[in-house]
Amino acid sequence: MVNKITVVGAGNVGATTAQRIAEKALARHVVMVDVVEGVPQGKGLDQWQSAPIEGFDSRVVGSNGYEESAGSDVVVITAGIARKPGMSRDDLLNTNAGIVRSVGEQVRKTSPNAIVIVVSNPLDAMCYVAMKATGFPRERVIGMAGVLDTARYRAFLAEALDVSVLDIQAMVLGGHGDTMVPLVSYTTVSGIPVTQLIARPALDAIVDRTRNGGAEIVKYLKTGSAYYAPSSGAVQMVEAIVKDQKRILPCAAWLAGEYGMRDLYLGVPCKLGRAGLEQVVEVTLTPDETSALAKSADAVRELIAVIDKGA
Ligand code: LAC
Repeated sequence: MVNKITVVGAGNVGATTAQRIAEKALARHVVMVDVVEGVPQGKGLDQWQSAPIEGFDSRVVGSNGYEESAGSDVVVITAGIARKPGMSRDDLLNTNAGIVRSVGEQVRKTSPNAIVIVVSNPLDAMCYVAMKATGFPRERVIGMAGVLDTARYRAFLAEALDVSVLDIQAMVLGGHGDTMVPLVSYTTVSGIPVTQLIARPALDAIVDRTRNGGAEIVKYLKTGSAYYAPSSGAVQMVEAIVKDQKRILPCAAWLAGEYGMRDLYLGVPCKLGRAGLEQVVEVTLTPDETSALAKSADAVRELIAVIDKGA
């Protein structure tokens, strides 16, 4: 257990993240920060009142400012708006870049040693904004998307194969968008290559459904996007860090030559421990996966170029 974890944004993703962190007792203090007056305070108090029943000792509080969050060990950034009718992709990008930039500046001042996990969308681009605004090294600014995309892929596969989700090992790499890259060549069921257990067309359909996993939920919810699985993804990363688990998880990391790429965030296998991003693990990809990853990188670079132009 660390002393303090802050979650910025008390919307569905942020509040559920705070709740999961508290229920797993990952920090003595859990602070939810949001600009909306009363919401983080109310949700924080409500969560804290569940503690005697759930049996955790993490003290959850909400705040509109950053004083309460000062000295956090980990900060999870979920702040940002969803796309509204009439808004272009670039409008969303610039609006959320402004929000994440100002959050990053506050975090730099109040929690200079924190490890930052970014969840705000568009994910890979927001990681870049957070790294610039905090001035933190890449070891301490990591994005959550691969864990979520991989969880969706594993859930769909487990359902199709009628086996436990726990026995599906897989990695989804690339950007968090429709160019993401599920690694079929590394997907196994307890070590058995998945291609031996499922016909190619069915597997292709699952890969496709994974790529559109976020949109499928938005279509159901209509006014919002997913938050149960996204918060689970963020908390798995937090847990790996605070417990120094050295887990290998797909995360958005700032590349410095790995996979032949640099100066962009992209989903790759990462080792997470108490120092944050402890290693980018390089694996051999098939030619198809290599070109899909390059295409995904191009999509992320386009967004970064828009941000650099607007900054
Ligand atoms: C998703 C969105 C929220 O994948 O990024 O559900």
